[in-house]
Amino acid sequence: MKIRGAIALVTGANRGLGRAFLRHLREAGCAKVYAGVRQLESLGAGIENAVQLDITDPEQVAAAAARCQDVDLLINNAGVAKFTPLLGSPTVDNARAEMETNYFGTLEMCRAFAPILKQNGGGALVNVLSVVSWFNAPMQGSYCASKSAEWSLTKAVRFELRNQGTLVAGVHAGYIDTEMVAALTDPKTSPDDIVNRVLAGIEHGDEEILADERSETLRAELLGNYAPFESAMQQTWDEYQRRITR
Ligand SMILES: NC(=O)c1ccc[n+]([C@@H]2O[C@H](COP(=O)([O-])OP(=O)(O)OC[C@H]3O[C@@H](n4cnc5c(N)ncnc54)[C@H](OP(=O)(O)O)[C@@H]3O)[C@@H](O)[C@H]2O)c1
Repeated sequence: MKIRGAIALVTGANRGLGRAFLRHLREAGCAKVYAGVRQLESLGAGIENAVQLDITDPEQVAAAAARCQDVDLLINNAGVAKFTPLLGSPTVDNARAEMETNYFGTLEMCRAFAPILKQNGGGALVNVLSVVSWFNAPMQGSYCASKSAEWSLTKAVRFELRNQGTLVAGVHAGYIDTEMVAALTDPKTSPDDIVNRVLAGIEHGDEEILADERSETLRAELLGNYAPFESAMQQTWDEYQRRITR
């Protein structure tokens, strides 16, 4: 679909990747861009079409859908990462929080906006996933599980919406230079570079958008023999365990 003239809604639009989506979509000529945010004041001054939207709150999701009936491009960007292992965490609270936002919140948004996309000619629904949709890094085991679940739901929603002409795209990327991974020193891609690739992918009609080099490399690697990758990940986990128990 064409970005120029589209009417978009971005979740988690106040900072990080969502903020970059907001800016690029406006610059690319969207007719309107709704900025979905948990706290309206977090957007700062001068942003039009702010929408109060915590995606884990079904009433707010319903209210957003009632208000944004003209949307034909939904960017499900909002997400959380707690960076904790599955068994090595004291409780399952972090795992639940990640599932609530990344999986159930995204699912609620897909369910609420699928009929709106249909009534507006199909449009596009874009879920911001991760490279960890494809594998598990146990230091952040519960986040990876939630992104795998979100990837799976993306594929299911794609099947369900194909006949209404909605492009359902999943975005995969390695580390992106946002607050989410501010504590990590690994190489990161700028949000601007990621968004440029995503918008090009939407215009091209891509269902799977590899938004950086890391996702391109890993996709090719994981489609082949998965065992060496798992073995390397085990070593990473073992080293991590040694470090924290030292
Ligand atoms: N950064 C990375 O390395 C990386 C890599 C691959 C994929 N991703 C994915 O990219 C997306 C954007 O992440 P980011 O890097 O921009 O992270 P970020 O800087 O931490 O921003 C996360 C955004 O999501 C919003 N959010 C969190 N929970 C929400 C909820 N329940 N309802 C509505 N909004 C909520 C946050 O709002 P508040 O300001 O109110 O908290 C914030 O706007 C996420 O889906 C993430 O999983 C990130």
